[in-house]
Amino acid sequence: MTHTLDPHEASAGMDDVSYDQLRQLVGLVDHDSSADPFPVKAMDAVVFISGNATQTAWFYQVAFGMQLVAYSGPETGVPERKSFVLKSGSARFVINGGVKPDSSLLDHHRRHGDGVIDLALEVSDVDKCIAHARSQGATVLEEPHDVSDNNGTVRMAAIATYGETRHTLVDRSRYNGPYLPGYVAKRSTVKRPEGAPKRLFQAVDHCVGNVELGKMDYWVEWYHRVMGFVNMAEFVGDDIATEYSALMSKVVSNGNHRVKFPLNEPAIAKKKSQIDEYLEFYDGAGCQHIALATNDIIGTVTAMRNAGVEFLDTPDSYYDDPELRARIGEVRVPIETLKEHRILVDRDEDGYLLQIFTKPIGDRPTVFYELIERHGSLGFGKGNFKALFEAIEREQERRGNL
Ligand SMILES: [Fe+2]
Repeated sequence: MTHTLDPHEASAGMDDVSYDQLRQLVGLVDHDSSADPFPVKAMDAVVFISGNATQTAWFYQVAFGMQLVAYSGPETGVPERKSFVLKSGSARFVINGGVKPDSSLLDHHRRHGDGVIDLALEVSDVDKCIAHARSQGATVLEEPHDVSDNNGTVRMAAIATYGETRHTLVDRSRYNGPYLPGYVAKRSTVKRPEGAPKRLFQAVDHCVGNVELGKMDYWVEWYHRVMGFVNMAEFVGDDIATEYSALMSKVVSNGNHRVKFPLNEPAIAKKKSQIDEYLEFYDGAGCQHIALATNDIIGTVTAMRNAGVEFLDTPDSYYDDPELRARIGEVRVPIETLKEHRILVDRDEDGYLLQIFTKPIGDRPTVFYELIERHGSLGFGKGNFKALFEAIEREQERRGNL
């Protein structure tokens, strides 16, 4: 099956990232979306609540090299909150913070801390998607409606997913503004360091949800039924068990794999798993990590480390293991370079990938990031899970949560 892109779809949220680049970066596959009951084009935005949006927006500019592109807040007629819109290639983050003491954002923040409130999706037909979602029993949080300003009209709606997370659906085909009606264009005041790359990542590869014990299959089935997503991969039992903690994971995606949502649940083990720790500190199900696609993971990790971002350590034994060396074969950088940067590598029948994980970026041990550089592999680093989780457990132990 071939996938022909209409001109708008080809440029959906991509800026100067081409379709072919995106195919390699996030591992797109051919798919005919004409029969999809809920056709999804792309991630529209990852929307966060932060305890201090002003400073968090600064963090993403300085440490993640993102560009500030739009803003709304008291100065633009929204007294309740501040919202900063940041971009890097096709990836868009929106950082919200409460300004008025009675802002509902602050209630959400009191319970969950900094985190993702909305995995917004770009769709071509909001009404069709909502009609299908409703017929499949989804909770419709916002009915389809138009929002307009001088730059045009956006049609939007929203449905509830796990925890207090939502999917806002956005059709921006009739809109030319910097984000949504009500937002004004705003430029970064942060100056990029001399010689720094234009951006540190090009796209969102996947967004992971942590759900309660026994709820993973419920949400996998929900994404099949409500959004027509397909299964990509699953990891159970020994794949991702260490001596102490275990989890189960399945991955659902839209037809061409542009939007990928792994879903994790804790599995019974001797000690508290990282998923249990997340559920306790987030106070429920929520988005655990966002994987950012880069075509130069060494450059990205170096720039982020120089800005102070901390990554999980990987033991020397991981790199010195002859089994690993035999399994991964030749990759584009010498294994000594991967070891120096603590980057993980995995290979499957389609190719290989390089990946690394940050430590939690906020006060609570909840949300973190992954950097991923794909070379043909459509996987998620299954071969690294055990090595990685042992590294996470060392951090959990230091926090007293193991
Ligand atoms: Fe991941």
